Amino acid sequence: MDIAIIAGSANASLAEATARELGTPLTPCVSERFPDTELHVSVQGRVRGAGVYLFQPTSPAVDAHLLELLLLADACRRAGAARLTAVIPYFGYARADRRTHDREGEAVSARLVADLLATAGLQRVVAVDLHNAALEGFFSQPLVHLTAAPRLIEALRPRLPKRCIVVSPDLGGVRLAERYAQALGLPLAILHKTRLSPTKVKVGDIIGDVRGHVPLIVDDMISTGGTIAEACSALSLAGAGQITVAATHALLVDGAPEQLGGLPIAQFVVSDSVRVSPDRLPHLAVVSLASLLAEAIRRLHAEEALAELVARG
Ligand code: R5P
Repeated sequence: MDIAIIAGSANASLAEATARELGTPLTPCVSERFPDTELHVSVQGRVRGAGVYLFQPTSPAVDAHLLELLLLADACRRAGAARLTAVIPYFGYARADRRTHDREGEAVSARLVADLLATAGLQRVVAVDLHNAALEGFFSQPLVHLTAAPRLIEALRPRLPKRCIVVSPDLGGVRLAERYAQALGLPLAILHKTRLSPTKVKVGDIIGDVRGHVPLIVDDMISTGGTIAEACSALSLAGAGQITVAATHALLVDGAPEQLGGLPIAQFVVSDSVRVSPDRLPHLAVVSLASLLAEAIRRLHAEEALAELVARG
């Protein structure tokens, strides 16, 4: 079966880099807006009989990118693709994975998005460092949950100063932070974070001794930067030294660069799961996921195990 790689508009450069690693040209497609703002997509290369990998992080503008992915899937299905896989390096709506008990009127958007992907004909989903590994249960089709951690860890290893301690900025991030701590042979501290609103968080207790240590804060994503800002001030108050931040998804929305640019952060290391320019933050290193995604696609296509490429539950 041939492989066809198709890039949605959210992060075409990552799709291109992945296709290059695989030695396959991108299959062209066009997305355009009609005057009434409806989105129209067309796949312009041959996909009949192919294993198609549709690249699209559902990063901001989340809804537009999601719809484009769904329409591209529909176009490929109608054009006779043999197997359709969505490659979603950043899965938007992942944080809406339950109703908070005090807000009964909320949607569980993550579940609905998973259903929409299935309805559009996507038979398999590849995602990277989902906000919550338990999201797998929302997908009726197989979910391949990759992790960027080994790539980011290798980039961090030569940059970390002595007396480093890995810090999870909240309880939900402990598994990911543990992976970094184990691989780097470092101790782990955990912050107790409470979310007050979509843009405001409060950090309370610190589990672990950070005094005199240099923190490496590890998170799945930096969105508004509120979590990192609060974590920095709690760590500084507790006597920690200059801070390094590692995150898979650098959304950097809503004034995040301004907020984070003024903090005592020595360096940021993020992946290119969403399109991010290195000049968005001072001392920002962007690690490409192209080789990870190419290896995952190669193994999926050959029906080989993915073992060390996947996230831990
Ligand atoms: C939340 O639980 C996530 O792991 C991140 O800590 C959070 O989403 C980051 O968002 P923000 O940058 O807006 O605080």
